[in-house]
Amino acid sequence: MRAEIALIGNELSEIVSKKILILGLGLIGGSIARGLKQANEEIFISACDIEEEDLNQALAERVIDKSGSLKELAPSSDILVIALPSLTTIELIPEIARLIGNNCIVTDVASVKSPIVNAVMEQTDSFSRRFVPCHPIAGSEQSKFSASYAELFLNRNVILTPHEKCTVDSINQVNELWHLLGAQVLGMESGKHDEILAATSHLPHLLAYSTVDVLADQQQREKIFKYAAGGFADFSRLASSNAKMWSDIFVANAKTTVAVLDTYIDRLGQFREQIANKNHDFLMDKFSNAKEVRDEFMGKHFGAAMNNLSAETVLNYVVEPGGFVSGEIRVPGDKSISHRAIILGAIADGVTNVSGFLESEDVLNTLAAFREMGVTITGPEEGELTIYGVGKHGLKAPRVPLDMGNSGTAIRLLAGLLAAQDFNSELIGDWSLCQRPMGRVVDPLTTMGAKIETADESKPPLKIYGRHLNGVDYAMHIASAQVKSCMLFAGLYAEGETSVYEPAPCRDHTERMLQGFGYRLICDESKRTTKINNNGSLKGTDIDVPADISSAAFFLVAASICPGAKLTLRHVGVNPTRIGIINLLHEMGANIDISNETEIGGEPVADLKVSYSELSGITVPANQIPLAIDEFPIFFIAAACAKGTTELRGAEELRVKESDRIEAMAVGLKSLGIQVKTFPDGIRIEGGDILGGRVNSFGDHRIAMAFSIAALRSSSAIEVENCSNVATSFPGFAVLAKQVGINLSEQLSAIDE
Ligand code: S3P
Repeated sequence: MRAEIALIGNELSEIVSKKILILGLGLIGGSIARGLKQANEEIFISACDIEEEDLNQALAERVIDKSGSLKELAPSSDILVIALPSLTTIELIPEIARLIGNNCIVTDVASVKSPIVNAVMEQTDSFSRRFVPCHPIAGSEQSKFSASYAELFLNRNVILTPHEKCTVDSINQVNELWHLLGAQVLGMESGKHDEILAATSHLPHLLAYSTVDVLADQQQREKIFKYAAGGFADFSRLASSNAKMWSDIFVANAKTTVAVLDTYIDRLGQFREQIANKNHDFLMDKFSNAKEVRDEFMGKHFGAAMNNLSAETVLNYVVEPGGFVSGEIRVPGDKSISHRAIILGAIADGVTNVSGFLESEDVLNTLAAFREMGVTITGPEEGELTIYGVGKHGLKAPRVPLDMGNSGTAIRLLAGLLAAQDFNSELIGDWSLCQRPMGRVVDPLTTMGAKIETADESKPPLKIYGRHLNGVDYAMHIASAQVKSCMLFAGLYAEGETSVYEPAPCRDHTERMLQGFGYRLICDESKRTTKINNNGSLKGTDIDVPADISSAAFFLVAASICPGAKLTLRHVGVNPTRIGIINLLHEMGANIDISNETEIGGEPVADLKVSYSELSGITVPANQIPLAIDEFPIFFIAAACAKGTTELRGAEELRVKESDRIEAMAVGLKSLGIQVKTFPDGIRIEGGDILGGRVNSFGDHRIAMAFSIAALRSSSAIEVENCSNVATSFPGFAVLAKQVGINLSEQLSAIDE
């Protein structure tokens, strides 16, 4: 699959027809040339370097097609890559600006970015617009052409640091270059880049150089080195790096590295003092902490085999009764809107700035998928990110299967989009996602002409053979926003009109956001039909993502069931197609006040003030089910705390969510002493006294959070097993729960064999 997809990508790449000039044929420059030639021999590559021998060798090996001076080669080049040390790059920028043609795109590979951006900004706008600063995190202590190899960038991170003048077209071209070399292209603001690199790369290099320097000065150096072993070799490896390159880096990034160094010197002073005091506990504490952090890093980045923490541990929540709920909080951004912001921003023309973005595992998988398809995205940084759209037809073939993790929304929405591309792709997911039905999107897409292969029973993975689609009229059997959105995304490309009928209103974020991107569609509410065609394009826009009502729901119920509670939830999305939980809680007698209502970027937003009140059981009206579809786990906790009976029917969909939510909640509630009867399409819950005990979340984020809220009314502690999946939708849940007064603690425990 991998090789096949990569080949399709190369054939389509526009880079193939470009003349590329590489300044500096060392490890990085040489590897760029080799990698490009390996991707496609037709690419024309020229190079400048002061090492005549390296140039001759590169010519002899056909790694480059031409060598010469900057003056000779620059004017006719389409893309110029400066692969030189930081200070030399800065020095050369004015000359390059003078020599290149009007359409030439320029990029660099220097390890420090802000000074490069500053130097670029001093040039004309016409030049700076076409300069895209870049840093491949792929160097090693080798720096010569002789060490270069074609695969150096394969699966390595390359950070683009676009500045405000960069055109989206230049960014996309530079992205494409790295895509072709097999790299994973990330984006970051240049100052942030320099700060991060100062801590993670520059400081370790300095420590390696200075440690070897200390030893080198000692008179007994011979003896010391004679007995030095693996530890010294491991630690000092970085001191074998290129001296000119690293001197440049420290001079160019002086201010930031000095700041990191000051922190380090300060910390070293503490170590010195505590060692002098023979403070064993201090050292144990610091070393254990450092070991844990490093083991986790190695496990994440280099595989669990290197990691003692390993995948054998599981995260549980232990919640003691007697907590309270008060204060003012803002829960993280809406998951549905965050997914859609990435998808539409990626295929828009121009720049889309997103704030309030949800940085959860599910959405970050969607973000990674679009990066893999050649879209440059900077951030997310505290909920902010910038997407440099590639246009409706600008996505690149993914080189690897796209991992949707736990997310049904991502896999179903992307299925529609990818079915209509002119490349093939594969969508995969975790164990839970691979149990979920995809026929609901594969079948209607097939009627449009799509070709999608699934595993047995229409489950993921999905192998999608991108092709021309035709518009259809489709009447959904279930009120599913995922199916509706999937069809609308396919409809963006399909010939003619695509029309989708929904049997009951379900979330309409896709329709609202498409309109926000300037795309025309017809929403006929009376006929419950949305129509779209392929005659249009999307224009990059700004998106402010409201707080997720599905995450707020846990706290709405927490405050409703906890005597004395008073809580304000700020800036919550209150789209009418999402407020089923508020409607249901109101019907049960909850005290929820909606204020400060406004509309931001086409989505209604409000503050929710909630305080304790006694709840009564209800029969859930059928029309509220799609509007509260994700909130039933926490709604069932409200039902367990209410007086009387609550009954839900017609909700068979709950059986095919991240877990079978009817079964998972019934099992948990029963074990906590609540009387429950299940039906194929629902549940009946008798309100009562909640006991303590252990419940299993079945790996479902919303089940995990729901049961931890139940402890506010339990007679003893509730231990909720298997809660790491909370990170898929609500990173920081435990912190916020503690902040409002819930007695929650997180515990890692070993998985029972
Ligand atoms: C979602 C739609 C709903 C919901 C899911 C998010 C969306 O799924 O359960 O968490 O963002 O479109 P269905 O469309 O299957 O009801």
